[in-house]
Amino acid sequence: MSEALAILGGLTAEQFLSEYWQKKPLLVRNALPEIANILEPNDVLELALDENVSARLIKQKDKNPNQWSVKSSPLIKGDFQKMPKLWTLLVQAVDHYSFDLAELWKKFPFIPQWRRDDIMVSYAPKGGSVGQHFDFYDVFLVQGHGHRRWQLGQMCDESTEFVANQPLKLLPEMDVNFDEVLAPGDLLYVPPGLAHFGVAEDDCLTYSFGFRMPNIASMMDRVSDHFADNQQLKNPLLDIIRDQTAQIGEITANELAYLKAKVLDQLQHSNDFEHALMSLMSEAKYPENIPEPDEIDVDDLSAVLDTGYELCLEPASRLLYTLEDDQLLFWANGEACCIDDAFAPILKTLADGGSLAFDQTLNQDEILQDIAQLLNDSVLMLLPPNEE
Ligand code: SIN
Ligand code: CO
Repeated sequence: MSEALAILGGLTAEQFLSEYWQKKPLLVRNALPEIANILEPNDVLELALDENVSARLIKQKDKNPNQWSVKSSPLIKGDFQKMPKLWTLLVQAVDHYSFDLAELWKKFPFIPQWRRDDIMVSYAPKGGSVGQHFDFYDVFLVQGHGHRRWQLGQMCDESTEFVANQPLKLLPEMDVNFDEVLAPGDLLYVPPGLAHFGVAEDDCLTYSFGFRMPNIASMMDRVSDHFADNQQLKNPLLDIIRDQTAQIGEITANELAYLKAKVLDQLQHSNDFEHALMSLMSEAKYPENIPEPDEIDVDDLSAVLDTGYELCLEPASRLLYTLEDDQLLFWANGEACCIDDAFAPILKTLADGGSLAFDQTLNQDEILQDIAQLLNDSVLMLLPPNEE
């Protein structure tokens, strides 16, 4: 991937990753012009009222704009009555509702799928913002409709203090060293920890392509659940070689070291650890957005081979693979997928974001069975002809 990328303003992926990613911001004018017409402000308002959508309505009091309030979904029409002058509507995971938007992830091929979180959209009238803040996530802010003025400031961390008694984690001050107005299609990469403040210049939609990373606590939790389910580990350990006596109230450092070594040995010498992480990382962020599929079987599939359908990933699902002892192993939506070896290279293409013509090359019983299973689990979807 060493060619200049338009989305990175002509940087190569390698340059961006080594100089900017997780380090410093990058502004690219007209990076993603195709985003401008995907959603209109009214579409966002409508989406926010859908009971399954995760959304927040943030308001600033007219009399005291330093007084904030946040109403989380489900949002109802009444929440939008008697609005103050300054407000922002945030809607999460719009990529699960707009296939065109989901397709735009493909513009970021230099960051793997397991790091993706979701695409959030914000809608605000002139003056609206979510305040000065920082996030622990990497985010590409892309202007959709209208204009937003972005100010960037200092690097923050766990010790940074917030404004007291507010429902948002707001920064009391920002040392502004960047001040630019973004127009439709412009992109601003903001690394984790960097203070930022975006204020709508007019009726404005801004998309946040957010990237997630697990924390140690959630990985520990998942790994320990995984081991706790293993029957073979439920037998008591053999006692430590007991050639010394100690106070009967004491567990000696030696005994603790023995117990710890047994756990670490288990972690190190089984693939369960990696499998637990694959299950965690392949979990969908909003499983409720995964559509209920129409049950399909191999005969139904055979009947539509070569009729123009395309096979691709369902945007709300997550499919990942890893190479273990030269074998591709797949996880989807938190579960390991058992598939035929012949299907593995095909599924790899799909996990890598590709789509495939649903044609004779897939006409093998084992392959069609695996495809039917993954369609019935809504991991994959079939795009009808002319509806890409
Ligand atoms: C916004 O779009 O207003 C907020 C996005 C962010 O600051 O992360
Ligand atoms: Co932010």
